[in-house]
Amino acid sequence: MDKRLFYDELAEELAALLAGERDLIANTANMAALLYHRLPDLNWAGFYFARGETLVLGPFQGRPACVRIPWGNGVCGTAAAQARSVAVPDVHEFPGHIACDAASRSELVVPLLIAGRVVGVLDLDSPRLARFEDGDRLGCERLVAILLAHHRDWPAARGAPPPR
Ligand code: SME
Repeated sequence: MDKRLFYDELAEELAALLAGERDLIANTANMAALLYHRLPDLNWAGFYFARGETLVLGPFQGRPACVRIPWGNGVCGTAAAQARSVAVPDVHEFPGHIACDAASRSELVVPLLIAGRVVGVLDLDSPRLARFEDGDRLGCERLVAILLAHHRDWPAARGAPPPR
């Protein structure tokens, strides 16, 4: 299936999941589960939230993961510090990659940006090399935009450090 059509469908499913619910934990937990089960070849899907200078583990699906990632460290911390999506085709080639699950071979991290501030990241891991194409990055950025539009009152937006 065409990737754009696939993400069109996911966008509709996400909007339906979020509809009528304001709880941030419930909604990010359901979004992680949706991505984990609908995107092929994932071994981890979930969120880290900005707490001061640190990313702290949020709702996810997959194996237990490292709880705290300093700003600027690993793929997640890099995406947060640079306030842009980072796709890594081979995590073994990424200096400073934090290995939470030895099965992970490629990774996509999309920052959660509210009013120019990074309030967290969406992290997707795959056991397949170069799993994430540009179409996945665009699709996931769109899904994150739907989540953020639904949570304009995101509490961390007040406490997160500005992007560097
Ligand atoms: N690999 C990530 C750490 C988080 S886990 O993959 C769930 C990183 O390098 O930031």
